[in-house]
Amino acid sequence: MLVNATRMLQKAKEGHYAVGQFNINNLEWTKAILLTAQELNSPVILGVSCGAAKYMCGYRTVVEMVKEMDKYLGITVPVALHLDHGTYEAAKECIEAGFTSIMFDGSHFELEENLAKTKELVALAHDKGLSIEAEVGAIGGTEDGVTADGEVADPEECKQIADLGVDFLAAGIGNIHGIYPEDWTGLHIDALEKINEATNRIPLVLHGGTGIPDEQIKDAIEHGVSKINVNTDCQLVFAEATIKYCAEGKASPTADNVDKGYDPRKLLKPGFKAIQDKVKEKMILFGSVGKAAE
Ligand code: 13P
Repeated sequence: MLVNATRMLQKAKEGHYAVGQFNINNLEWTKAILLTAQELNSPVILGVSCGAAKYMCGYRTVVEMVKEMDKYLGITVPVALHLDHGTYEAAKECIEAGFTSIMFDGSHFELEENLAKTKELVALAHDKGLSIEAEVGAIGGTEDGVTADGEVADPEECKQIADLGVDFLAAGIGNIHGIYPEDWTGLHIDALEKINEATNRIPLVLHGGTGIPDEQIKDAIEHGVSKINVNTDCQLVFAEATIKYCAEGKASPTADNVDKGYDPRKLLKPGFKAIQDKVKEKMILFGSVGKAAE
């Protein structure tokens, strides 16, 4: 059931758990995540970066794929189709294309410009019933070729952007996209506490969910994080499972491969299963299992 993410994240905030945003890259990714959410009776957010949307032939293609798959698989849990780290232009395109939620990432602009653009997009998104996430304080690491250092957001800036009526807010607390370096010092929970107070307790978003120790994830949820983004983790387990399958010779291009393990439906199956296991593990950790009911 496609919905915006406002209610599911308010409920998560009230209930002290978080909803996972899992990024999608193709049909297998989408199907694996939807089926797992349904199995665990958990709300879920499908994240689509601008790069992934381009790979999947554009926002409209993604909308149709997700809508039809949701219907075909009989998914009844709440599913939000969310633009991840959208540019100003991408955010507008997704509002028109039928996404149910958008993130406008104006964190690289001067604050005034970020505020002005966010304000405009809040009005456009709400007019069409979409939820909107904004960002202050760049989140570290590399995603879609964009690199930033792990920053900690200023609570006062967070307050200014939250006051524009955004539904949830991504604020850097030392988190980084991708694999964390060995000398990473951890999440700044003290900063999170201040941001939570300053923003009048709107749901907060933790990007870079891959590789954060479980105890820190739980601590972040306890201090106001209601949405956690995971991308790299699913990529890693998908790659690992696929490599293992090939290394075992199961995709061998020979006539004696009677199982025809090179058939893409077989070749991609271990990776598909690995994504399901990873999503399941995260939903249990985040506490969203069994929380699908409105
Ligand atoms: P990871 O790739 O580190 O899991 O981060 C995902 C993310 O934050 C998407 O916005």
